[in-house]
Amino acid sequence: MNLTLTNIAFLGGIRPLETKVLRGAELAEFPTIENAFLHIQDGKIADFGPMSACPQDSQEYMDCTGRSVLPAFVDSHSHLVYAGTREQEFNLRLKGASYEEIAAAGGGILNSAKKVAQTPEAEIVVQSTERLTKLIAYGTGTLEVKSGYGLDAEGELKLLRSIKTLNAQSDATLVPTFLAAHALPAWAKDKGWSDDQYTRWMLEELMPTVAQEGLADFLDGFIERDYFRMASLEALLEASKTYNLPAKLHVNQFYDIGAIPRAVEAGALSVDHLEVMSEDAFKALEGSNTIATLLPTCSYFLTIPYAPARRLIDSGALVALATDYNPGSSPTGSMQLVMNMACAKMRMTPAEALNAATLNGAAALQLSDSKGSITVGKDADLLITRKIPSPEFIAYDFGTNHIQHTILGGVLQPAL
Ligand code: NIG
Ligand code: FE
Repeated sequence: MNLTLTNIAFLGGIRPLETKVLRGAELAEFPTIENAFLHIQDGKIADFGPMSACPQDSQEYMDCTGRSVLPAFVDSHSHLVYAGTREQEFNLRLKGASYEEIAAAGGGILNSAKKVAQTPEAEIVVQSTERLTKLIAYGTGTLEVKSGYGLDAEGELKLLRSIKTLNAQSDATLVPTFLAAHALPAWAKDKGWSDDQYTRWMLEELMPTVAQEGLADFLDGFIERDYFRMASLEALLEASKTYNLPAKLHVNQFYDIGAIPRAVEAGALSVDHLEVMSEDAFKALEGSNTIATLLPTCSYFLTIPYAPARRLIDSGALVALATDYNPGSSPTGSMQLVMNMACAKMRMTPAEALNAATLNGAAALQLSDSKGSITVGKDADLLITRKIPSPEFIAYDFGTNHIQHTILGGVLQPAL
């Protein structure tokens, strides 16, 4: 298969293969060629440049007059695979209940776990496919997907296997993460287990199967005052080393309990959320290789503080943007909306948001060699916008879908 995109108004996100991740001033540049072509061969980006150099012998051409062509979004934090929805809890919150109060009353993550237990694997795949199809039409090409709504061995394996099936069925790239410690279930409470006893049990019980069946690339836990504390973090970091699954961790969403300095010290791949930060946490991330993954739609939806993106970027931390798509705290998978909120609420520039939603997202999944930029040899995972004045317009004009086509591995995806 061989396809050439022609007359591209703006071809953006052009990087040499050596550039794996962007920090500080580099994050502020979104390198672009105007009036360009891009040639796709066998699912890869084979060539690109100014229209004057466009090859004349392609099998197929697609005219992109007035449109931007960019790398497809890389969403490096999501909980796409779940069962049912939780709009009733949204109502409760609007009446004054807090996220934590709803969780304490058996809602929240426990509510989703109940729905997962009651739903057959094939049905979970069907529900998740519907969500994924929408995200692809919104420009996402690569998506991290966490388990974590199982809360026992059977449930977690059901979710991890659903992610595997979904990945096999789709042209999108789904990257599975084993979220081993998400909430303490009733059965563990009944046994009188502490949070770290549960975490250790889950890891011992499941890691061998997860490793054997290749069900996860990364390991995660919800490190938080009222969920899983520092002893759980230690258990996760230990398993991360033993099984060679880099850690991507939920930290500092509601409270700072000292997780970030410890995670950075242990070489975690990413620390995600960061709505509540201490000076020690900022210090640990300055110049470190652990990526701060920020989730503005979660802040918006829960009415909690936005992560301090500006300070993180200016102090030399690595920043990626992701959706946190889940039924409780961020019921959206739109990277376009994430970018808008990152600019409007977290003072990132549109160029920074574009980079944080593409190449830095790829870095947060260790996929910089194949995803996240316009680079010869990388996968032809591209988005083609509607007629818009510039790529930055995507981060500015919010509430509608600016993507006309998504191409994944060189294959044109169905539009909605
Ligand atoms: O990332 N913080 C923990 N997990 C999810 C929310 C889970 C839920 O409410 O279902 C998050 O925000
Ligand atoms: Fe999350």
